[in-house]
Amino acid sequence: MNDHSPAPVFLVTGAARRVGAAIASELHASGARIALHCRSSRLEAEALAASFNARRLGSAFIVGGDLGADGVPEALADEALTHFGRLDGLVNNASSFFPTPLGRIDSQAWNDLIGSNLKGPLFLTQALAPALRASNGAVVNIVDIHADRPLRHYALYCAAKAGLAGLTRALAIELAPDVRVNGVAPGPIEWPEDDQFANTERERIIRHTLLQREGSPADIARTVRFLLIDAPYVTGQILAVDGGRSVHL
Ligand SMILES: NC(=O)c1ccc[n+]([C@@H]2O[C@H](COP(=O)([O-])OP(=O)(O)OC[C@H]3O[C@@H](n4cnc5c(N)ncnc54)[C@H](OP(=O)(O)O)[C@@H]3O)[C@@H](O)[C@H]2O)c1
Repeated sequence: MNDHSPAPVFLVTGAARRVGAAIASELHASGARIALHCRSSRLEAEALAASFNARRLGSAFIVGGDLGADGVPEALADEALTHFGRLDGLVNNASSFFPTPLGRIDSQAWNDLIGSNLKGPLFLTQALAPALRASNGAVVNIVDIHADRPLRHYALYCAAKAGLAGLTRALAIELAPDVRVNGVAPGPIEWPEDDQFANTERERIIRHTLLQREGSPADIARTVRFLLIDAPYVTGQILAVDGGRSVHL
């Protein structure tokens, strides 16, 4: 970027809190303007946008909605493009995550897990593809190491993330050579807030990492920035950021 080129614009889904907020903050700190997507966490998104706009006026804009709902990805893509007039990168980070033991899977769980983790990213990327082609932009999908090595009782989530991994490679082909499409597969970064994992299970998972510790949202954010901004010859790849856990799961 030089003084005369406009700051790039990145859309980050699920950006109000946790890992998504870290990704948005890292990209904003690199000089970008950010379209922050949220669904329920409007207040947190507003606080984050206000902090970005306080640093650089007009550098943040909020779009909202349920990514699994028909028409919503297209509508928020439109809103972001109308506001900023361009798009240089998309980070598909939003995700729901909960167990679905076989025998108890219903269409509500299907719609929620597939909607947020697979359907939303697909329709959002499709809607934004012309703008991304025009800017020679990039997409980063936040996958999961459990896309390849499933987690017991999470079949639907793992299948949704496996679909997102497949989509990453398929869209890298489809959008080449104009747009790069990559993925980041986190390991244990930030535990869910609803105590899905007991302390003993958390300890077992950490012991399984080669580095013997959890990662941080900043580890994911730095990797996303690398793939969006500093990796012009990388496409169709999914990089595990997991302390080495997937090497010996
Ligand atoms: N945390 C980890 O250790 C870990 C490990 C492996 C993979 N990952 C992946 O890394 C990414 C970030 O993880 P995280 O733990 O920060 O995620 P998270 O807190 O569980 O969820 C991020 C956001 O996704 C949004 N979301 C969920 N369903 C949605 C829907 N149907 N439509 C629109 N937005 C929806 C929510 O936004 P609102 O709050 O605004 O509703 C939520 O704040 C996810 O893709 C996750 O699968 C994380």
